[in-house]
Amino acid sequence: MSVSTSTIPVIAIDGPTASGKGTIAHRVAQALGWAVLDSGALYRLTALAVQQQGVDAADEHAVADIAEALDVRFDGDHVWLSGHDVAADIRLEHVGNLASRIAAYPPVRQALLERQRAFRASPGLVADGRDMGTIVFPDAQLKVFLVADVAARAERRCKQLKAKGFSANLADLLKDMRSRDERDRTRANAPLVAAADAITVDSSSLSIEETVQQVLDLWSGLGFPKA
Ligand code: DC
Repeated sequence: MSVSTSTIPVIAIDGPTASGKGTIAHRVAQALGWAVLDSGALYRLTALAVQQQGVDAADEHAVADIAEALDVRFDGDHVWLSGHDVAADIRLEHVGNLASRIAAYPPVRQALLERQRAFRASPGLVADGRDMGTIVFPDAQLKVFLVADVAARAERRCKQLKAKGFSANLADLLKDMRSRDERDRTRANAPLVAAADAITVDSSSLSIEETVQQVLDLWSGLGFPKA
């Protein structure tokens, strides 16, 4: 497995599901004028394609073939899979749960590795996921491990789903979130873990703006020249 080394800066934001990584990553990228990688979307897209194509989700090589061949384009809020906008579909809970299952397969992670590294482009990249700081961009200039307690995360996810017009049940979300956390943390391959050089930020009692500001302060504290 080759390790990417580049002078193009990367801010890696890893953390458990619904810790706010996606929103924070987008806002930080916007503030810096950088690109953003939502790596979870690639696992969700693979899960959706597996379902759409009726592939056996227990067959890790068949799932890896799907990951390898994904025809994906990210365009603002749109996510195109084989020419169809699936931005809403990939956010469904059952797609997220399947994504977590197939993300445990080493060949699937390998199939998505270079695709993720290809997002590293000037003037910089903010990458969010589970293994951005450990595996995909081990040389990231800043690694943030974003946590929030599970009740705060379940409440956030519940509000998000309801705001989008989906039905949501807090107790079910809490149960799903605990088991997804457990699976992501304990899998043998690229588990959810803070990199040794990551800085942990707890957003349980922080607003989005405060969390974004903390990450921007950490970045400016490193003293890299502005692009
Ligand atoms: O961040 P998310 O909830 O959109 O991610 C969906 C699933 O994909 C998550 O449960 C685990 C997996 N994932 C991963 O294993 N590695 C990543 N870098 C990102 C996501």
